[in-house]
Amino acid sequence: MTNKYIVANWKMSPTSIAEAEDLLAYIDEHLQNETENKEHSLIICPPFVFLDDVSKILSTSRLSGQAELGAQDIALADFGAWTGEISGPMLKRLNVKYVIVGHSERRWKIGESDEVVNKKLKTILANELTPIVCVGERERNNNFQEFLKNQIKATFAGLSADDISKCLIAYEPVWAISSNPGAYPDTPESALESIFVIQEVLTVNCKLETRNLPPFLYGGSVNATNAKDFLSLNEIAGVLVGGASVRKEEFIQILKNS
Ligand code: PGA
Repeated sequence: MTNKYIVANWKMSPTSIAEAEDLLAYIDEHLQNETENKEHSLIICPPFVFLDDVSKILSTSRLSGQAELGAQDIALADFGAWTGEISGPMLKRLNVKYVIVGHSERRWKIGESDEVVNKKLKTILANELTPIVCVGERERNNNFQEFLKNQIKATFAGLSADDISKCLIAYEPVWAISSNPGAYPDTPESALESIFVIQEVLTVNCKLETRNLPPFLYGGSVNATNAKDFLSLNEIAGVLVGGASVRKEEFIQILKNS
């Protein structure tokens, strides 16, 4: 298997820095001992309040050079009066390299529109950070392809082909995200069908050459059992793991299976 991205989206967990340290120590120990010959790009996205500590741990432990830091959100502006927000330059000072944007929990629970996602995406790129752009339909109905096409067009509006090729795109069907009632994981085949729809919009509407298409990740109830099914596909460059990324034994299994 070629080098795959494993993105740990901790969301609003764990609840204390002690637990976060424990989780990282466990990953450190087992990464060295059990996943020796595995090649993966590990990206840890903790809550904002832990970024500073996690950044220090990633640069001083054996995880240095093996894991990079991601943020779960970014302010629309780099400076100024934006109560409660964290700017791109602040993230960069903490050694953040990636930023999740367009996550369905922000789109649907908090009400972030495509327009806001698009602006944040531009801010991430302007700060020379790598966006992990989440897209996905809410329901797998007859209209899902149309929904995806419109979401992609609006999310990437005004971006050059060059900028789009710098992103990672995470296809995360909302109905598959484990925090939603009745959620169940997508199948690799149907995830691939959606990825092809997204690729078509990017090549036809956004004028990307096929060879410049960005890497595609899958997210939505990824666990120790199903991760390898998604990761075995050439078209899927990695997984975005939510709930299972803070269950330490399970997360190590995902890394071992990648
Ligand atoms: P999940 O979350 O793995 O818990 O389904 C994925 C995500 O929300 O990014």
